[in-house]
Amino acid sequence: MIIGHISDIHWLDTTGAHVLDFMNKRISGGINLLAGRAKKHTKDAARCALETLKREGCDHLIVTGDISNLALPAEFSAVKAAMDSYFDDDHKTIVPGNHDYYTRESLKARRFEKMIYTSSPGNLDIGVSATWPFVRILGEVAVIGLNSARPRPWFVAGGILGQQQLDDLEKALQHPEVASRFKIVALHHNLFQVVTTPGECLRNLRERRELLAIAQKYGVQLMIHGHDHDYVYKKMDQLIVAEAGSCSVSSFKADNRAGKFNRYFIENGRLEKTETWRYEHGKYVLWKEIGN
Ligand SMILES: [Fe+2]
Ligand SMILES: [Fe+2]
Repeated sequence: MIIGHISDIHWLDTTGAHVLDFMNKRISGGINLLAGRAKKHTKDAARCALETLKREGCDHLIVTGDISNLALPAEFSAVKAAMDSYFDDDHKTIVPGNHDYYTRESLKARRFEKMIYTSSPGNLDIGVSATWPFVRILGEVAVIGLNSARPRPWFVAGGILGQQQLDDLEKALQHPEVASRFKIVALHHNLFQVVTTPGECLRNLRERRELLAIAQKYGVQLMIHGHDHDYVYKKMDQLIVAEAGSCSVSSFKADNRAGKFNRYFIENGRLEKTETWRYEHGKYVLWKEIGN
């Protein structure tokens, strides 16, 4: 089975937005956009990633959050339509990022749940009442989706899972339908502190150590995330933690920050190979291949 992994599309669309929609944290987001984000993340690169995955072969697509820029309704419907034109809801799984809960208003409106989450059918009943974690069974693979995103104060982009979600994750991992399969945990926030600048602590996942410990305890083979827009591939015994980067980045200074996506080849209960594709001169090309 081939799992495709894209992240951090950061689709910008202010159609229908009212000036009042910007009288909140979106002001800082707007400044950020003016500072270059809008130029860096393009819809062409995002569409090219989807088109390349479809063409090269991908049985199921996992999207690890930040699909929108400012959690506006127009962004969710446009980015959903773009993804739908390549992968229907039976063939894609999406978890949210901090930009998808950019404001308290977007949380209150349950915009991600209503416009994106409810379109993920066929979740396994793991006996928990919360929306996250959820489990999807895809043949020999079990995908466990987590939500590490919630509205945070200005200039804070860190993630929080909460004790309940960690407890429910343990429950999910013990479910016989999950325990017997190749387990992929998908979330938005990074699990390692990639950069050590002072502001970096505002971008971390609060429970990253606890989450890694649970993943190792229950034999999770693959954890995938986004958020850092950076390339990560780290092996910890039987566990591999991977981030390709943002799939919509079309202009960049450092190699690691170029637009990227991953393909994971899973056969007979193991990850045989990971491919990373990179956006170069208007098209995606194979950049790196790691066998396991
Ligand atoms: Fe992002
Ligand atoms: Fe993020």
